[in-house]
Amino acid sequence: MEEARALLAAADRVCVLTGAGVSAESGVPTFRGEDGLWKSYRAEDLATPQAFRRDPRMVWEWYDWRRGKIRGCAPNPGHHALAELALGSRSVRIVTQNVDGLHEAAAREVAGAGDPSPALPLEVHGSIFRVKCTSCTYRIPHRDPVRWESREVLPKCPVCGALLRPDVVWFGESLDPRILSEAFESAREADLCLVAGTSGLVHPAASIPLATLGGGGSLVEINPTHTPLTTMATLSLRGASGELLPRLVKGFD
Ligand code: OAD
Repeated sequence: MEEARALLAAADRVCVLTGAGVSAESGVPTFRGEDGLWKSYRAEDLATPQAFRRDPRMVWEWYDWRRGKIRGCAPNPGHHALAELALGSRSVRIVTQNVDGLHEAAAREVAGAGDPSPALPLEVHGSIFRVKCTSCTYRIPHRDPVRWESREVLPKCPVCGALLRPDVVWFGESLDPRILSEAFESAREADLCLVAGTSGLVHPAASIPLATLGGGGSLVEINPTHTPLTTMATLSLRGASGELLPRLVKGFD
C-alpha cells in the first residue's frame, strides 16, 4: 500500500480502468465470479446481436431484470474514492467496462454543487440505462422499467418504429472507436494505470493498461484474486476495492 501510494503521489497523469468487481460491494453481480452472471446464464443467448434478433423479448426480460437490480444499488466507497481522485488537482481519466452508471452517480455525489465532469467515466461497454434504435441513429437515456411480456409491447423507436435495444456492447460487436481511442490515449499518456475489479479477460478493454506500460508508466492492480494482468503489474494489492481504493486515495490505514 505504501509503494502504491508513492506511485500515485508521483503521477501527474493517471488512467483508471475498472470492471464489475468495483460494483460488487454495491450489490451488482459480476460476470465470472462464483455468483457471476455467466455462471447462471449463457452470454450467447442474451448478450449477442444474434440473440436479440432471435428472441428480443427474452433479451429485454433479462435486461429489465438487471436494470431493476442496478436501480436499487448505490455507489460504494471505492466509487467515491475514485471520484474524489478525479475531482482533485491531478489529471485523472476513469475508464470503465461497467454499464451500471455508478461511477457517474458517485461523481455527482462527490461534486455536490460543483462540476462532476472530470470524474465522469468513459464507458467503453456502453450504458444499461441508455437505449438505441436497431435501425436508425436514435439513442436516448432510459432508466424506467421496460415492458417485455410480448413482442408487441417491446420499446420501439419514436423516429422509425424499429425495436429499441439496450445501448451496451454485445459479444461480437465493436466498441465505439472514438471512446476506445480516447481510452487508449489517456492510458498511453498516463504515468500510472490503476486497474480495479476486472478479470482482464475481455479485449480490447483489457489491453488498455498495456498502453501505459508501453509508454513507460506503472500499473497497479486491485483485485482479490490473480488475473492475467497480475504478472505485468508493477504492484498488486489483494483485496476488495471498496476497502483498498479509499485507503490508497485518502491515505488512511
Ligand atoms: P468479471 O466478472 O470478468 O471480473 C470481475 C473481477 O472483479 C474478478 O477478477 C474478481 O476477482 C474481481 N472482484 C470481485 N469482487 C471484487 C471486489 N470487491 N473488489 C475488487 N475486485 C473484485 O468482470 P469484468 O472484468 O468487468 O462485457 O468483465 C469484463 C466484461 O465481460 C464486462 O464488461 C462484460 C462482460 O462480459 C460486456 O458486457 C461487453
